Amino acid sequence: MATTKRKNPSGKRNRTATSAFTVPGLEAASAHELAEKLQLRLHALNDLQLTLKHAHWNVVGPKFIGVHTMLDPQVEGVRAMVDELAERMATMGVSPNGCPGDLVARRTWDDYPIGLAQAAEHLGALDIVYSGVIEDHRTLIEEAGDVDPVTEDMLIGQVAELEKYQWFVRAHLMDDEGNLATQEAQSAEDAAARGLAADAKID
Ligand SMILES: [Fe+2]
Repeated sequence: MATTKRKNPSGKRNRTATSAFTVPGLEAASAHELAEKLQLRLHALNDLQLTLKHAHWNVVGPKFIGVHTMLDPQVEGVRAMVDELAERMATMGVSPNGCPGDLVARRTWDDYPIGLAQAAEHLGALDIVYSGVIEDHRTLIEEAGDVDPVTEDMLIGQVAELEKYQWFVRAHLMDDEGNLATQEAQSAEDAAARGLAADAKID
């Protein structure tokens, strides 16, 4: 009987490895330590690009088209960050792991909580998703600054883009007095509910 289970034709496990070298001018141990910390940022960005596509497919209601079409350029932008970050790891001598199983095993955040839902719900939840990724990127910027300004610069550039994408999301969640519907949200589910309530008030 045919099976859909994939087999690894080489018979080998997925492996990660650290090389004996790193980029010129850096001390190998500290550079590799930093590159290994990039692994969780790689997983976070891969998770983000999948989550954005999930929202792109599952947004419904009268505000569908604006949110549906807004999200694809964000997906493309985040996918470019994934590639940039993984290749920085490899350049520094640490093998990046792009496998979904490793992502799920190592992630420190919850899966995106909503499926088919109104635009305001997805926007509320995505605001919280973006906050998590941005905060953790900023934390690593602080650490990278002491080791490698090139990695620090890459992370700074990514955060600038991520914050712009979050502003696109947040602009939908603000009233004309500058209040953000998700400001006090405690979780993505809570933010989705607050987004929907604020949207109902505007309508
Ligand atoms: Fe699409």
